[in-house]
Amino acid sequence: MLGMAWRLLLFATTMTVLTTPNATAGGNGVVQTPSIFAPASTPAFAIRELALIVFGITGVIFVVVAGLTVYALMRFRRRRDDDGREPPQVYGSRQIELAWTVVPILIVVVLFLVTARYIFAIERRPHLPEALEVTIVGHQWWWEIRYPKLGIVTANELHVPVSDPAHPTPTFITLQSADVIHSFWIPQLAGKMDVIPNKTNRIWIDPQKPGGYVGQCAEYCGLQHAGMLLIVAVQSKEDFAKWAAQQQTPARHDAEVQAGRELFSSLSCINCHAVRGTSANGVFGPDLTHLMSRWTIGAGVIQNTPENIRSWIDDPASLKPGALMPAMKLSRDDLDKVTAYLLALR
Ligand code: CUA
Repeated sequence: MLGMAWRLLLFATTMTVLTTPNATAGGNGVVQTPSIFAPASTPAFAIRELALIVFGITGVIFVVVAGLTVYALMRFRRRRDDDGREPPQVYGSRQIELAWTVVPILIVVVLFLVTARYIFAIERRPHLPEALEVTIVGHQWWWEIRYPKLGIVTANELHVPVSDPAHPTPTFITLQSADVIHSFWIPQLAGKMDVIPNKTNRIWIDPQKPGGYVGQCAEYCGLQHAGMLLIVAVQSKEDFAKWAAQQQTPARHDAEVQAGRELFSSLSCINCHAVRGTSANGVFGPDLTHLMSRWTIGAGVIQNTPENIRSWIDDPASLKPGALMPAMKLSRDDLDKVTAYLLALR
């Protein structure tokens, strides 16, 4: 519970940074909440509508059942002049049994048909040529994010352009898993979609307001299931283009951190991590080419600060117990060098 509260706080801080006008230019500065009742994308609007219909129907059932129960309790309660005899015992009323069989069946059929209608309406979305294509791969415990047509690879923070309802520019997401079953869920943008090994699932979003939207792996996937957070940064078209251009550049080659770069390349780091434009091309862990452009590390578990980067390299488990990256056991001096190198990857 405490952990959850703490993460929400971190999220709120991250979102404040994320939604300042500077970060999104046109962002409204509002801290978004992971609620299906605050939709910002077509599938999420449909889901809220459906949820309200279901709440309406079940609300009426609740009022009728609870009302009849309260009425029976009051009307037939024991009174002072009660003679203690049982009321007449009635067995097998055909009308009553038919009623409580047929009415619930009808209710379930109505709920089923309404739900099916919404599911098909969402899935029928035609693919527009101007749609952005993204591939998201679930890992224990982080999200790999690839833009195949843009040649961008990043992690845990999905950037997409805002979609104007008059000229929609939706984002189509292909979901894959590198290990176990995860579930992709950004409550304000779309429904949940399972991320299954050896199977490709598709989902789409068309966020209509710039800002930050938070999501979370929604299928238990091991120790750090709760530490598998996702941020969707919805940006104006210009800001998204700027972000994409920056992400497409190869890693900065900073002469000042030469020692750190050489050390990094000589360590096992490069078996798991990629830094584009260098010999590091591992795919097991997040791509670090533009590490410092992200708000968090460890998939939303901690903020991306120099101190946290250093502690993470020293011992990831101290910040995210169970994280699959091993403690690097570097000397203080080497730790400083590698940290300096990573901090230069902007
Ligand atoms: Cu991934 Cu839960």
